[in-house]
Amino acid sequence: MNSLDELRARVATALTALQQCADEAALRAWNTQVFGEKGLLKKAMSLLGKVPKAEKPATGAEVNRIKESLTAAYDAAFSEAKEKALQLSLTTNPLDVTLPGRGRPRGRLHPATQILRQIYAIFADLGFQVYRTNEVETDELNFEALNMPAHHPARDMWDTFFTTTPGVVLRTHTSPGQIHVMREAAGKPIRVILPGMCYRNEAISTRSEIQFYQVEGLVVGEGVTMADLKGTITAFARRMFGPERQVRIRSSYFPFTEPSIEVDIDWPKDDPNRDRLTKGTGWLEILGAGMVHPNVLRAGGYDPDKVTGFAFGMGPQRMLMLKHAIDDIRLFWQNDLRFLKQF
Ligand code: FA5
Repeated sequence: MNSLDELRARVATALTALQQCADEAALRAWNTQVFGEKGLLKKAMSLLGKVPKAEKPATGAEVNRIKESLTAAYDAAFSEAKEKALQLSLTTNPLDVTLPGRGRPRGRLHPATQILRQIYAIFADLGFQVYRTNEVETDELNFEALNMPAHHPARDMWDTFFTTTPGVVLRTHTSPGQIHVMREAAGKPIRVILPGMCYRNEAISTRSEIQFYQVEGLVVGEGVTMADLKGTITAFARRMFGPERQVRIRSSYFPFTEPSIEVDIDWPKDDPNRDRLTKGTGWLEILGAGMVHPNVLRAGGYDPDKVTGFAFGMGPQRMLMLKHAIDDIRLFWQNDLRFLKQF
């Protein structure tokens, strides 16, 4: 480049070329041609070295002015191209911001968890603490410490899942928790409930599952009597089922309580499935209970000459069936949302 005139002519050509850039990519290429290492502006600078000394200030000022005008023209063209691209994408691929957002589906507690929490709340009012124990137990705690030595016929009441480790079983009831609590409380008075999952090799039916919750209760202290047991169970049933529902207490047998009882609640009278689910009796058993057997107190480290105790083991899912006239216990673990959403 040899003169200012030549520079002005080339700037004019560049500005025309700028107007013809169709998109961002073309603009960037133009930018390199003008502002890059071998670009127009670098050449304009070289002009400064060629003009006579007297013309240098004026030429320098002109080159600066040209640089500013090229920069301003480029910035304007660039933002215009961006705006055009945005408008184009808005018209060809419109985004409807008025569409309502997708609601997050709200989960809820499983009905079995709900009833467990109701049970905790009622027993908390009655002064009980919640105590958790293992689902995998030794044969010793599941049976022997509960007054059922090996080959005792009472073991037939609980069809057991044995693990491949000899002497280790899936607990068939929450009662082995009684021994854990007594050994931990070491002679002090006890008033606890022990909730948790139990496993039995059952013939699955509308009322019996192979996996189900139980809530065990244990009270040990001086002067605890059968009247305390009956009072506690009755108070519980009134709170859980309301004052209209009937509670029936029958004598029964468990190796780890003496005497033993079982407790039934009357099935809702207006339910058409009443006969089928209660085998024609109108009652459904919710729990077994009794006064803790002296051998069990001893296994827990308590002296049966000094203290007595009562225990119970209830089935929360049976209680849910009774509360809502649910006609099949298998519904609980089938994960069918049509069932679960009703609670
Ligand atoms: C027992 O398991 C005793 N351990 C209860 C007990 C504890 C007695 C402390 C005395 C002192 P039973 O097998 O009857 O007893 O079960 C107790 C309750 O668990 C039943 O009343 C029932 O509500 C529930 N239950 C038992 N088997 C099943 C099953 N297969 N499916 C669902 N619930 C069950």
